[in-house]
Amino acid sequence: MCGIFGYCNYLVEKSRGDVIDTLVEGLQRLEYRGYDSTGIAIDGDEPDSTLIYKQIGKVAALEKEIEAEKPNRDVTFVSHCGIAHTRWATHGEPKWSNCHPQRSDTASDFVIVHNGIITNFRELKQLLINKGYKFESDTDTECIAKLFKHLYDTNLKHGNEPDFHELTMQVLLELDGSYGLLCRSVHYPNEVIATRKGSPLLIGVKSERKLKVDFVDVEFPDTDEAQPEIPLNSTRGEARNFLPIASNESALRRSQSRAFLSEDGAPNPVEFFVSSDAASVVKHTKKVLFLEDDDIAHIYDGELHIHRSRREIGASATRSIQTLEMELAQIMKGSYKHFMQKEIFEQPDSTFNTMRGRIDFENNSVMLGGLNSWLPVIRRARRLIMIACGTSYHSCLATRAIFEELSEIPVSVELASDFLDRKTPVFRDDIAVFVSQSGETADTMLALKYCLERGALTVGIVNNVGSSISRVTHCGVHINAGPEIGVASTKAYTSQYIALVMFALSLSDDRVSKLDRRREIIQGLKKIPEQIRKVLLMEPRIKELCEKELKDQKSLLLLGRGYQFASALEGALKIKEISYMHSEGVLAGELKHGVLALVDENLPIIAFGTRDSLFPKVVSSIEQVTARKGRPIIICNENDEVWAAKAANSNLATLEVPLTVDCLQGLLNIIPLQLTSYWLAVNKNIDVDFPRNLAKSVTVE
Ligand code: F6R
Repeated sequence: MCGIFGYCNYLVEKSRGDVIDTLVEGLQRLEYRGYDSTGIAIDGDEPDSTLIYKQIGKVAALEKEIEAEKPNRDVTFVSHCGIAHTRWATHGEPKWSNCHPQRSDTASDFVIVHNGIITNFRELKQLLINKGYKFESDTDTECIAKLFKHLYDTNLKHGNEPDFHELTMQVLLELDGSYGLLCRSVHYPNEVIATRKGSPLLIGVKSERKLKVDFVDVEFPDTDEAQPEIPLNSTRGEARNFLPIASNESALRRSQSRAFLSEDGAPNPVEFFVSSDAASVVKHTKKVLFLEDDDIAHIYDGELHIHRSRREIGASATRSIQTLEMELAQIMKGSYKHFMQKEIFEQPDSTFNTMRGRIDFENNSVMLGGLNSWLPVIRRARRLIMIACGTSYHSCLATRAIFEELSEIPVSVELASDFLDRKTPVFRDDIAVFVSQSGETADTMLALKYCLERGALTVGIVNNVGSSISRVTHCGVHINAGPEIGVASTKAYTSQYIALVMFALSLSDDRVSKLDRRREIIQGLKKIPEQIRKVLLMEPRIKELCEKELKDQKSLLLLGRGYQFASALEGALKIKEISYMHSEGVLAGELKHGVLALVDENLPIIAFGTRDSLFPKVVSSIEQVTARKGRPIIICNENDEVWAAKAANSNLATLEVPLTVDCLQGLLNIIPLQLTSYWLAVNKNIDVDFPRNLAKSVTVE
């Protein structure tokens, strides 16, 4: 989804050039979230003026645009707030007028960058058009900017000069949908508002001096003066806009809470970095504070105030400043050409990190700190539902069988969107497991809220520390794969897979009957990082295969059965999203029920023929393919005599991977497919880290 970034300096002198560079660099680190267009807004040369630069395409195009416009880079700012955006189009095609920042009027009184979707924007737009506002774009975001201006002017007319956060509360009351947004205004110089609902936002704090506190108090609106509930209809905005402002005054009164970061009144030079993702902040500071839904952060005069846009029982009253464990090197490409390639090659380390400190290979035991105290409850569950999207869904499918075998609890695996569409019944004694790399995927998050409302115990299997899913679930496991920047998920898949296997292992550690199986799996896990390293040596062979055999093909079938059905689906997804080649993962047992009609000497087929209890059935499926002149490529175990003999007698090729325990084999089998998708894309000159129409973190429904 879109990435938003803001930079505020207070008593830290910066030139305009520095500010531009900081914003642009922030965007570069967020570019993987959306790359249809980019833009920034900063102070102009005249007092109370704003400079907006925006451009279709990637950050590089924006840099050129700024260079061409030749802003005076030498002007210095002692205090300043700039905002920036990289967009993944939802409303309005990627054209210049739709790029963010969006403005309230030609004087840019209020300027907004926004991630999310405002679902009632058509009504709001009509309302504002009726009031004489002229719209420049097709975006929902422009409504927000104009609403800020409209409500600001209305307040003034009623003799009320609201604080920036008070005004924001009034605006948010009008909005339905999701947002992470930043707003700056000429009426509030050197101030910025950051607010979120269903879209991630965090604030990095950099200060020369030691911070006085390691948390920020939350300031709640006054309950007695709560806003009247007005049902959603076409006049809702109208009704609210014309509430006499005075009646809201005490609900929106000026914050009384103590200032953050001011040392006994002494001015404290400080910089704030607001972002959708820690990856763009870590270069500057590791001290961050994660905003929660309905938080309104107001930054001004070197202080950070957090207000709630609504009051709720039991809401936490502080936001703590946490220390990021991420290193800058983790989010750099290093010697690799693409993040995706780097992340594929990181898997020996990332899988090791998922297990580090959690598995005792001597005693064959597993200890997951974030789950341990919940295990007795989970063991009593009547059903376990795994819920996820895309690649994360495939990691659930890949581990479902071993989960059922070890835990003896029925497991269903659900695509989050379909789970919600069906209004699936959920009970208090269900365990709902949410698997997500980003921890922010809108469909998964909505399914999580749905399960929480129905009283289920919720477990998060998440990579992104501090993300919404990791915070909202009752308990869970961080997969510790490290930041995944490439849009195609690779290392997160193998780490999710291992985290789920470890979860299943911890559920069964009280069962004597499972001792041997547990030992076999734990010892298998121990070897996985080294075995992945070995599979990665296959890269030149796969590169050649892609260049010589697959490059000009239109379609590719992937056949798998049992544990390998998930590998087939995940391999097909990787190939589709990165190389744009049509690819389909097929359950080998279903071949004869229709798909066989596609098979001829031309259609490329990759089949998973590694050893497990279903091996004879897979062999038989492949025979059906070769009998119809198909030329399958078999991913098989090293030195497998069955496939060696078949290769000698038919038009069949093999790619050999090491043998591991049946339920772990998918961890090795997926690597050749990750490499295949990568090299297919590189051969077609596709920008692997930025495949068309996709974004890394899908924070809209
Ligand atoms: C595919 C891919 C997507 C994500 C999906 C869920 O390579 O990356 O299919 O897996 O959008 O995202 P998370 O795991 O962040 O919830």
